Amino acid sequence: MIDQNTAELSADEWDEINFPRPETHDFDDVVERAISRRGFLGGALAFGSGAAVMGASMLKGTTAMASQSDRFAFAQLPIQTDGTVHVPEGYNWDVLVRWGDPLFSDAPEFDPVNGHPTEGSDRVFGENTDGMELYHIDGHEVIAVNSEYANRKTNLPNAEDGVPRDADDVLLLQNLQGVTVFELAEGPEGWSVVVDSPFNRRITHNTPMTIDGPAAGHDLMKTADDPSGTMSLGTMNNCGAGRTPWGTYLTCEENFNGYFGATGDMPTDEATAAGYSRYGVGPDGWGYDYHKWDARFDVSQNPNEPHRVGYIVEIDPSDASSTPVKHTALGRFKHENAAYALSPDGRLIIYMGDDERGEFMYKWLSRDLYVPGGDTSTLLSEGQLYVAKFNDDMSGEWMALTPAATGMSEAEIAIFTRTAASKLGATTMDRPEWVAVNPRAVEGYCCLTNNKNRGVAPNAGGDDTSANGPNPRDANNFGQIVRWRPSGNNHASNTFEWDLYVMAGNPTNQEGLYKGSSNVNEGNMFNSPDGMMFDSAGIMWIQTDGDDGNEGEFEGMGNNQMLAGDPVTGEIRRFLTGPNGSEVTGLTWSTDRRTMFVGIQHPGSPFPDGEGSLPRSAIVTVKRDDNNLVG
Ligand code: FEO
Ligand code: CA
Ligand code: CA
Ligand code: CA
Repeated sequence: MIDQNTAELSADEWDEINFPRPETHDFDDVVERAISRRGFLGGALAFGSGAAVMGASMLKGTTAMASQSDRFAFAQLPIQTDGTVHVPEGYNWDVLVRWGDPLFSDAPEFDPVNGHPTEGSDRVFGENTDGMELYHIDGHEVIAVNSEYANRKTNLPNAEDGVPRDADDVLLLQNLQGVTVFELAEGPEGWSVVVDSPFNRRITHNTPMTIDGPAAGHDLMKTADDPSGTMSLGTMNNCGAGRTPWGTYLTCEENFNGYFGATGDMPTDEATAAGYSRYGVGPDGWGYDYHKWDARFDVSQNPNEPHRVGYIVEIDPSDASSTPVKHTALGRFKHENAAYALSPDGRLIIYMGDDERGEFMYKWLSRDLYVPGGDTSTLLSEGQLYVAKFNDDMSGEWMALTPAATGMSEAEIAIFTRTAASKLGATTMDRPEWVAVNPRAVEGYCCLTNNKNRGVAPNAGGDDTSANGPNPRDANNFGQIVRWRPSGNNHASNTFEWDLYVMAGNPTNQEGLYKGSSNVNEGNMFNSPDGMMFDSAGIMWIQTDGDDGNEGEFEGMGNNQMLAGDPVTGEIRRFLTGPNGSEVTGLTWSTDRRTMFVGIQHPGSPFPDGEGSLPRSAIVTVKRDDNNLVG
């Protein structure tokens, strides 16, 4: 058992304690390589002289360069360090829903002293809100939203260190995570949840779901409770999200490994053990201790159960009785989110990131065409998965993960996707978080949030993580956003050109590349871009999940925040700041585009209820005072 207080660790910290990566470079090496990197970037000084300039050379035929015209309707918000949300002059915010708020009138009231009773805990809004999407269904506004993880200490205040004492405690934690679907309505007092709406639904760690795609029915997917390998219970560590053009919700399973542990011997089967090592499944779990009370999570009894998570799950928000579907065709990794595009001939493209240090970016291309109004039930089942290779000459390639290329079966590629991608020499990335597709230009973006191991240690598969084109800084604590433009203005193309939209950094107290690109300045500094979405006007909204200590290399950045980015000019402006300790994650809009919904995850102070109350993750609304459009 690890002796750190695991309730305080991030998923990456936990993984590194349990699965330490060998050091590959000594410090002098790192510094020397960081300096020599400038030579390469001399050519790419395009970066140094501004993302907009770089963009100009890459934009041929896709987007016209705008002059300095300002497309933002607000003045930049200064940094903040306090315990609440701030928005610019002319805007206002309010709380829509908080962790523990009832979705049904028979649900228990939130109790800030004793936490929730287990009974009814699957009938309240889940904890730690993350990715979300809004749907307009038969005149109703409906949000589907993820609850990424549970804060054990606050949910189990009477258990030492928040470690579950029995199966009842485990069930409580399982119930507060997963996905919430709820109806909302705007009245004279603002937006609120429509309690008892037939759309309201909780999907938890125990909700039955179908498994489809190449891994369905494979021996590695079979368990004692499901000898068919086609039905699983629950979706977990639901991080970012996405939507399909036909109105379903895509929830993305990220750090699933932390829920598993072993009460007996770890499995020795070669493929299973190798997979555990690559994905970080170990005997001790992440402190949830599910495995001691729920045999499904005990890998000494159910070695295949971890193979059944790490996917993208499709949920129909219009039907609370529908069975979610796990789409193994989209691969198994620590899925961050899913952003779709359509090719000119109507095929569906899904871009995806695998958020772990030195892991990869992926693309999936459907075999069949999307026909609006047509049958979409198998559209996410048949297609080709690709992994990204970025070349230093700013070209790139999507490499197909086929049996011929990898020596693995289609099912094995779907289950051990990271291994397949490593075999092709995919480009190791600085933790791919959200991917977004520009609705106004044929281009995609991915937040590479940070990577202290860049140039320091290999990834979990042993792949070299020396600095490379889109990941140019060793020990990268700031992060960057990579952009790609597919050849022929077609997202189905397997080649692209890329540049960096922004390199975050600190221009006031750092040197060289760590100052950031020239669209970062003293006024708009930030670190660790994570969430990212485009609005209908083509403005990119960037949410951060970084160091909010406002000290040292992070001095001048303040609390985590949401900024607006102009993809054409490269300009970036701070719009919203979260409470201290929180991450700003998840963004969607009302159908009339007069309200923006923003997620506040793990606040560090008693937000939003004030002194004497627990900190509660929440979705907040942001509107203009004049009720004009906000995106
Ligand atoms: Fe759950 Fe990668 O953020
Ligand atoms: Ca994230
Ligand atoms: Ca993050
Ligand atoms: Ca998070």
